[in-house]
Amino acid sequence: MIARQISLRAVALALTVVVLCALCTPRVSAAGAPTTPEAARGEHIARLVCSACHVVAVDQEYPPLLKQVTPSFAEIANRPGVSVESLRRFITATHWDVDKLPMSMPNPMLTTEQANAVSRYILRLRAH
Ligand code: HEC
Repeated sequence: MIARQISLRAVALALTVVVLCALCTPRVSAAGAPTTPEAARGEHIARLVCSACHVVAVDQEYPPLLKQVTPSFAEIANRPGVSVESLRRFITATHWDVDKLPMSMPNPMLTTEQANAVSRYILRLRAH
């Protein structure tokens, strides 16, 4: 019984160490470039909110559900003249028009901070 308790403690300790290490290791984005905390938050938002309609990372969990083809985030990042400001402007201003086809992007209702973070993430996908 005591041995069992000790081994459970050892497992719990090992798990804690693994989780802490994962939190401390510098994050690497899908493109392989080291990332800032803001861009990492942006990647999280992208995977959570944007991946339903866009390819946001090469290793995203599910392909987009939307049948209409949208630009991938890597494609957007590599367009000439793209900046954090231009992306944020689009993300916060876009709105869906029911009568328009192909569909325009609905407003994802992000805060300015979230729109900035996701824009920074997109720009990190730019090929250098
Ligand atoms: C419901 C589907 C949907 C979701 C969710 C979605 N998008 Fe889009 N997005 C689209 C469509 C459709 C287009 C292409 C039409 C357009 O430009 O409005 C697009 C285009 C874009 C563009 C390119 C605009 C341009 O200048 O060509 C950007 C940038 C973008 N999305 C960012 C995002 C971000 C960031 C998120 C998540 C916060 C997101 N999208 C979530 C459907 C979506």
